[in-house]
Amino acid sequence: MKLLVIGSGAREHALCRSLSLDPAVTALHCAPGNAGIAEVAELHQVDALDGKAVAALATELDADLVVVGPEAPLVAGVADAVRDAGIPAFGPSKEAAQLEGSKAFAKEVMAAAGVPTARSYVCTTPDEVEVALDAFGAPYVVKDDGLAAGKGVVVTGDLETARAHANACDRVVIEEFLDGPEVSLFAITDGETVVPLQPAQDFKRALDGDEGPNTGGMGAYSPLPWAEADLVEEVMNTVLQPTVDELRRRGTPFSGLLYAGLAITSRGVRVIEFNARFGDPETQVVLARLKTPLAGVLLAAAQGTLADFPDLRWSEDAAVTVVIASHNYPATPRTGDPIEGLDEVAAQDAPHAYVLHAGTRREGDAIVSAGGRVLSVTASGTDLARARERAYAAVDRIRLDGSHHRTDIAAKAAAGS
Ligand code: AMP
Ligand code: GLY
Repeated sequence: MKLLVIGSGAREHALCRSLSLDPAVTALHCAPGNAGIAEVAELHQVDALDGKAVAALATELDADLVVVGPEAPLVAGVADAVRDAGIPAFGPSKEAAQLEGSKAFAKEVMAAAGVPTARSYVCTTPDEVEVALDAFGAPYVVKDDGLAAGKGVVVTGDLETARAHANACDRVVIEEFLDGPEVSLFAITDGETVVPLQPAQDFKRALDGDEGPNTGGMGAYSPLPWAEADLVEEVMNTVLQPTVDELRRRGTPFSGLLYAGLAITSRGVRVIEFNARFGDPETQVVLARLKTPLAGVLLAAAQGTLADFPDLRWSEDAAVTVVIASHNYPATPRTGDPIEGLDEVAAQDAPHAYVLHAGTRREGDAIVSAGGRVLSVTASGTDLARARERAYAAVDRIRLDGSHHRTDIAAKAAAGS
C-alpha cells in the first residue's frame, strides 16, 4: 500500500512512524513533513491547504490512501478534493469537519443528538456577550467560534479579560464552566461504524501545576489508571455513536478521526470540544500503544468497511510524551536554534524512548527549531512511572537553547492520585 500523509507536526511524525512499521506499507510519503519525518518518509513540498495540489501529488505518487493530519486542510476541503480524484482519503469532508471548524455548529449537532455538553450561548454583539457572561458567572469560558490553533479559548475569573476576548471575536460561544479532569478519547469511523481508541490525557497549560497560558498541548499519557473501567463504553454510547449517527442523518457523514475532548464532572461526562482529526500530543501516546498495524484500519475507515475490521489490539504498556517547546512559546516563539542530543537518545534510549519532531527543519548538517512546539519525546514502560522516567531521561539529553518543558506530565497519575 502506498500512502501520503499531509501535515508537518509531531502527530504526523507519530502517524508516519507507525505506518513505517506496518508491513502492508510499501511506500510512505509526507508533505510537507519535517526533519524527523524525513527519516521515515519521503518528503514533498505542497501547500497543504490546496486540495487540487494535494490531489495532484497523490495522483502522481499513485497513492492508495491519503491521510490528512491537521484541521485546517480538512476544513478547507482537502479530503474531498482527494476523493474527487478517485483516491481514498482518511479525514472528514469539509462539511463534517465543521464539527471542529465551528464551535456553534458542534453545539447544534450535540443538541440534536442529545450529547451531554456545557450549556452555552452563541453571541455576536456586546449586549449578547454581557447577558451570557452574567448568566453563567465566573469562572468565565469564552470561545472563538472558528479555528484558532488552540488559542481561541479563554477561561478566566476576571470579567474584563472575558469581555475583552469575547469582543475581539466576530462570533463567540460563551458557556458554563465544567469542573473535573479532562480526557481525550479518539474514535476511527467510516461514517457509520465507530471504533474507539484508548483514552489519553493532555496537558494544555504551559507550566507545571496547570499554570500559565493555554497551549496546543505540552504532554500526554495513556492509559488513565484513575478512570472508570466503563468510560470508553459510556462515551461510545452517549457521545461518539450519537454524533456520528446525527451527521449521517443530515447527509454529511463524518469519516476519519473523531476526537472527543471530555470533562469528567460530578454530574457525568460532558463534551468540552470535538476535533475532526487526531489530537496532538495524545496521538503520540495512543499510537505507541496500538499493536494493530495502522494502515489497514485507516483504509477501512476511508473505504467504509470498518464493520468488517477485526478488533484493535492494544499493548498493556503505558506511554508518556513530553513536549519540548521553543523559547517564548506559546507567545511568538524563537526559531532557528540548533537541537543537539538527538543521536544520544537514539543510541541510549531506543526502542523504549524516541523523539518525534514537531517544528524542526534541517539546515546543512544541523537540525534546528522551526516552530513553537519543537519535539515530542515519547516513551513506553510497564507502567506510567517507568514510561515517565524513560521520557524524562531522554528529554534531559536534548539541548535546545531557551527551550522549556513541563516536568509534571503524568506525575499525579503515576503516583496513583
Ligand atoms: P478547547 O480549545 O475547546 O480545547 O479548550 C481549551 C481548554 O479550555 C480545554 O482543554 C479546557 O481546559 C478549557 N475549557 C474549555 N471549555 C471549558 C469549559 N466549559 N469549562 C472548563 N474549561 C474549559
Ligand atoms: N491536544 C489538543 C488538540 O489536539 O487539539
